Amino acid sequence: MSDIQLTKKLIRVSRTTKSSFVLPSDTNTHGTLFGGRLMSYIDDIAAISASKHARSAVVTASADSIDFLQPIREGEVVSLESYVSWTHNTSMEVLVKIFAENVITGVKKVCATSFLTFVALNEEGKPTKVPEALPETKEEKFVYDGGEERMKARKARRKHSEKLASEFGSFG
Ligand SMILES: CC(C)(COP(=O)(O)OP(=O)(O)OC[C@H]1O[C@@H](n2cnc3c(N)ncnc32)[C@H](O)[C@@H]1OP(=O)(O)O)[C@@H](O)C(=O)NCCC(=O)NCCS
Repeated sequence: MSDIQLTKKLIRVSRTTKSSFVLPSDTNTHGTLFGGRLMSYIDDIAAISASKHARSAVVTASADSIDFLQPIREGEVVSLESYVSWTHNTSMEVLVKIFAENVITGVKKVCATSFLTFVALNEEGKPTKVPEALPETKEEKFVYDGGEERMKARKARRKHSEKLASEFGSFG
């Protein structure tokens, strides 16, 4: 194996897709998919992408905001696509796109997008280096180019969360 294959990996290697019919047991009283069910699908597919990229155990470090732009209705097909969109040292940013499709009419809409960050762990459960993500397509390059900026925003948010956690801890 060449050095480039050990230190860099094409983004397409981590591309993952998943589709399911939205059944009555997946929905709330309005007949639309539970937000919590969708979040579980998002974490699951993102973990698969991160594992394919790192080829090691991974853990979810954070999820950025998820905006539910459109409801996903009972009887529709919910589809998710994910890939590692940017990497740093031991962390990987994963983009998940969520679509709903009416399989009778063929109408498909984007319902949400989400970025999650995963950290690769070694056999001792410690963060370990991941290969650098290599974008190829126009979309991959577009998303990759915003990666560093998003990482900086997450670092600031993490500091804020740590401060809040220490303040909550002091209430006893
Ligand atoms: C995520 C975790 C492994 C980080 O470990 P740590 O000892 O704090 O390690 P570090 O501070 O050195 O961070 C390691 C990497 O994680 C990133 N990271 C840590 N917390 C992060 C967060 N909240 N959001 C995004 N990235 C984060 C760091 O930026 C760093 O990335 P880099 O190596 O690419 O620069 C640790 O905080 C953890 O185990 N958290 C719980 C994870 C979990 O249980 N997830 C499931 C939730 S139910």
